[in-house]
Amino acid sequence: MIDAPPYLLRDPESIPSPSFLVFRDLVAGNLDAMIRIAGGVDRLRPHAKTHKSARVIQMALERGITKHKCATIAEAEMLAEAGAPDVLLAYPLVGPNVGRFVRLAAAFPTTTFRAVVDAPEHVRALSDAAATLDRPIPTLIDLDVGMGRTGIESGIGAEAVYQEIERKPHLAADGIHAYDGHVSESDPAVRARRAEEVHEIVAQFRDRLSSRGLPVPRLVIGGTPAFPMHAGFEAPGVECSPGTVVYHDYNYKSRYPDLPFTPAALLLTRVVSSPRAGRLCLDLGHKAVAADPAGLRAFFPALPDARPVGHSEEHLVLETPNADRFPIGTPLLAIPAHVCPTSALHRSAHVVVDGRVVDEWETTARDRRLRF
Ligand SMILES: Cc1ncc(COP(=O)(O)O)c(C=O)c1O
Repeated sequence: MIDAPPYLLRDPESIPSPSFLVFRDLVAGNLDAMIRIAGGVDRLRPHAKTHKSARVIQMALERGITKHKCATIAEAEMLAEAGAPDVLLAYPLVGPNVGRFVRLAAAFPTTTFRAVVDAPEHVRALSDAAATLDRPIPTLIDLDVGMGRTGIESGIGAEAVYQEIERKPHLAADGIHAYDGHVSESDPAVRARRAEEVHEIVAQFRDRLSSRGLPVPRLVIGGTPAFPMHAGFEAPGVECSPGTVVYHDYNYKSRYPDLPFTPAALLLTRVVSSPRAGRLCLDLGHKAVAADPAGLRAFFPALPDARPVGHSEEHLVLETPNADRFPIGTPLLAIPAHVCPTSALHRSAHVVVDGRVVDEWETTARDRRLRF
């Protein structure tokens, strides 16, 4: 038995390692906390990239969350297949993905699919492909609000792109998408100020578009760190789009203790070798837990002081003065530092309720391609 509140596993010996575990009631608690913070489901558009799971989407739909966001065509397909009525694919579409997206939209006529663009090339390609559809594609402009990854900076160029969306017969201007991946300050007061800067950029650009008579029905804003601040942004059409919150992880839990979410997706690993004094080798290589460039791979509740000293495909080597207490074969729970790429490493999750594995959930959109 592993009892490390809030995590309980009554029979870890029955679970092979490495395995991905989802604690269902903690996921439910995170979804409920997300809805509470947003003040209801209307201002929510959670990102499905963290879990890529149709079963988690089902839990969200049961709570009345109708609007969803995703990053890949496979995730969009999973969402539509699960019955999500409103899907925003928040990733610029290029190459064959433009046609895949349009074919997907044609195959699910009861789901509204929305797209983002940040350049005239995107607008042209999407509009040309959408000519085969019987309805225009609602299309948001991706605004670069400081991260500098995708998006276009607010200004005359961005206005021209938005005008172009509105002019195209097969697209419909649908608002502003603004992701704030650069807002990562631990101090909530500093984070709040950074979030306000984002709100100002978005509001000014919205006013600029409105003053030209362009419709701006929605403002899709942000990830997890500044989610509570975005939830307080009083503007019509705001939709908050956190993703990590649903599973949550060690990086976010330790960096943002003000957020009321609990890591709900863990890993079960075992000591496979103890090569020298003070060292433990676990079966938690980077094919089982995400290997982000910096920082911890995972936190071990039973080994809070363990120091990672090596990570390869199937091995994680830790140093700890307590190594003697963990003989070969010992099962350990690990909270992934970054859960989104970790979940994508596992075809399915063991679902734990009241300490027992009661189900297995596919990581539905883990593959790059489902049907489309
Ligand atoms: C465009 C976009 N929106 C929302 C999110 C969700 O952010 P978070 O992981 O902080 O919840 C991400 C995360 O990568 C993202 O890229």
